[in-house]
Parts: sequence; C-alpha cells; structure tokens
Amino acid sequence: MAKRCKTAILISGSGTNLQSFIDRVAEGELALDLCVVFSNRPDAYGLVRARNADIPTACIEHGDYPDRESFDHAVIEELDRRQPDLLILAGFMRILSPAFVNHYEGRILNIHPALLPKYPGLDTHQRVLDAGDEWHGSTVHFVTEELDGGPRILQGRLRVDPSESADALQHRVQAVEHQIYPEAAGLVGSGRVKFRDGQTWIDGKIADEPIVRTYD
Ligand code: GRF
Repeated sequence: MAKRCKTAILISGSGTNLQSFIDRVAEGELALDLCVVFSNRPDAYGLVRARNADIPTACIEHGDYPDRESFDHAVIEELDRRQPDLLILAGFMRILSPAFVNHYEGRILNIHPALLPKYPGLDTHQRVLDAGDEWHGSTVHFVTEELDGGPRILQGRLRVDPSESADALQHRVQAVEHQIYPEAAGLVGSGRVKFRDGQTWIDGKIADEPIVRTYD
C-alpha cells in the first residue's frame, strides 16, 4: 500500500472539522495518517477529541512567547518532530508568520467560511445576509502569506434563505465544511491536487476555478 500522507491538524477550539477528519479516517474513507493534533490553547475541546481517537496531541501557548516569530518557530520545531507532509488549519485562530508559511510552502490548507474571494476576514455569515447574496458557503484553499488569499481548491455552496439568522446560516455552512474539508485534504494527500508556482493544479492542469459542490 502507498505511504499515507502524514497530516497535522492545528486547532484552537471545538474542533468539529477535526472530528470530521477523525470520523472519515476511522470509516476508511480518507487515507490520511493523522500524526498529531496541535493546539495553541490547552482547553481546546479538539484536544479531547484527538485523545479519544488515540491521536498524539501537542500544545504550545502563544502567550508564553514574546512575539509571533518565536511562537511560530516553537510550533515548527514541535510539528517537525512528526515530519508532517500536510498541515490542516481547522479553526486555528493565529495568523501565521511568513517564515512559517514558507517553511511549509504548498503544504498548508485552510478552510474559510465564505465563497472566496468574496468575504475574506470575519463575520462572513452576517455580511452575506446583509448583502442579500443568493449563495454562501465555504472554501478550502492553500495557505499563502496573503490572509484568506491563497489559491482555492474546493468550495461547498448552499442557497441562502434570506429569512434565516446568521447563527442558522453558520450552522448549515459548518455542515458543508465537514464534507468538503476531508474531501479536499484527500485530494491533496493522494497527489491529485498540488500547489505549484503559486497556483492550484488538479490532475496535472492549472485550476483557475475551484471544484464546486452544491448542497441543500
Ligand atoms: C470553521 O467554521 C472554519 O470555517 C473556521 O473556523 C471554524 C472552526 O470550527 N476557519 P471547528 O473548531 O472546526 O468547529
């Protein structure tokens, strides 16, 4: 059997996306080796999820470091003990330094709750409702130095009900994330999707547009 892609998942909180990876791997639907779950917060519930699944955990608190660079350096040292092929940001609430992004160039994925390039940044669900958009969703993308700006891989979209609350919309978008994030990571882990020259390549071709899945 081919070597499984060694994957580190970085969290700061509840870790529902992490759980979707754990479940897919357990069900044999996702061929990743989840080698470590890393948190910058010791009380992140995602660490409990990881321990329950017998995945190694690591925690370094950013408050123990004087600046972003020294914290990121410590995280690199910790992660590199496991030699990950792929890093999954799953609610990791830290902006990464250029040194960190460059160290793992083309090997970091993020999920952002909007149909990028629309709505980078915070508060996306309310902004979508305020704008009266027909579609909303979430985007898996490679991480570059530009926040929420790296090349896109896969989007999951759903139709907005203009009468729903931002909380209800967020809930629906999260359910979409739990589908698309493992799928996108699996495509990268298997080598079908690659980052090269600042772009996403799918099956050997430059992909100007992401793969799009539509959900109810
Ligand atoms: C997700 O909704 C994702 O879009 C954002 O952070 C959230 C993490 O949620 N980047 P969880 O910790 O996986 O539940």
